[in-house]
Amino acid sequence: MMKIICVCGARPQFVKAAAVSRAIVKYNTENPNCIIDEKIVHTGQHYDENMSKVFFDELKIPRPYVNLEVGSGLHGRQTGLMLEKVEEVLLELKPDIVLVYGDTNSTLAGALAAAKLHIPIAHVEAGLRSFNRKMPEEINRLVADHLSSILFCPTDTAVENLQKEGITDGVHQVGDVMYDSVLFNVNLAEQSSQIMSRLELPSKGYYVATIHRAENTNDTKRMDDILSAFGQIDFPVVLPMHPRTRKILGKKLTNISKNVRVIDPVAYFDMLMLEKNSRLILTDSGGIQKEAYWFSVPCVTLRDETEWVETVEAGCNILAGAERQRIVDAVKQNENKSTAYNSMLYGDGHSAERICRILLESQVNQI
Ligand code: UD1
Repeated sequence: MMKIICVCGARPQFVKAAAVSRAIVKYNTENPNCIIDEKIVHTGQHYDENMSKVFFDELKIPRPYVNLEVGSGLHGRQTGLMLEKVEEVLLELKPDIVLVYGDTNSTLAGALAAAKLHIPIAHVEAGLRSFNRKMPEEINRLVADHLSSILFCPTDTAVENLQKEGITDGVHQVGDVMYDSVLFNVNLAEQSSQIMSRLELPSKGYYVATIHRAENTNDTKRMDDILSAFGQIDFPVVLPMHPRTRKILGKKLTNISKNVRVIDPVAYFDMLMLEKNSRLILTDSGGIQKEAYWFSVPCVTLRDETEWVETVEAGCNILAGAERQRIVDAVKQNENKSTAYNSMLYGDGHSAERICRILLESQVNQI
């Protein structure tokens, strides 16, 4: 038996962890003599029901072994609390491997706690770089990658980024688990999501947007520019609002243009449907840039750089930064463009199975 602890705590990590957990359950059913025992440790970084519980329910993720209930806070404090609590769990459960996802503070804490206890780390979504060290995510990924012994890269670019930093051992290009997730869930979402009728949205008659990155939310000028651009574009903008963004905007929310429809954060199936039926997506999220691509919906990214350079190179994503006129122009430019979407850019939808197999092989090699 192989004992894996998955440390996660933020919304995008639940989507990725769901794909891998599903592959593990499938593997266990087919191989009853060689079981992978996976336990999920939820750091509690995201704690609102619609940022956490709905994802576990909808994606049928195994219930966490423990929720560390760390909650929000300054980066040092939040990460420090996680580190202390994750260490206790690792000492208790003595896993063979710790699995971490993406680039959040939960990723950093999981990786650091494991490294100090000499437990091998596997990092899913390794090798991504924005080359902007002002982003907390960039620091988290750099540290997690340098501490990991198995690095699951979603793209060739990610493999090359690691090579440039001298990391070549244990690197596997497996494709993107988020693509596995979209392929597996899109039909379920079509069947169960009511969001289009609930919001009375005409297919291809609206844009969908998200904003939550610190570089935007913590900068008044960038936020004002983004929101004023949303007020000037040709179609209504549906904006499921992250709690961070809502908190920072506070009273300003009442001044938002009538063209913008602010709603609460939505569950995964609803988000897939909002994206798939939209005319164009505006976002500063990483995952949503790729989901736009998989749904062949043009994307305007509200950042100055992206880790998902393939979508930009393919002409499917425009980096518009956070200047009002640049955003308005990018929307116009994308509206009038027909682009080829080659869905194989991010793998074939079987990344999680590959991850599962490689994890098992790694254990065999250690014996
Ligand atoms: C985190 C990740 C980011 C990821 C994002 C997905 C880090 C450094 N950042 O950012 O990479 O893209 O998750 O959403 O780990 N809040 C709530 N309820 C919640 C969660 C958060 O109200 O359930 C509010 C709190 O005010 C909190 C703020 O949102 O202070 C920020 O939350 P936090 O977990 O620190 O980071 P995110 O912005 O969600």
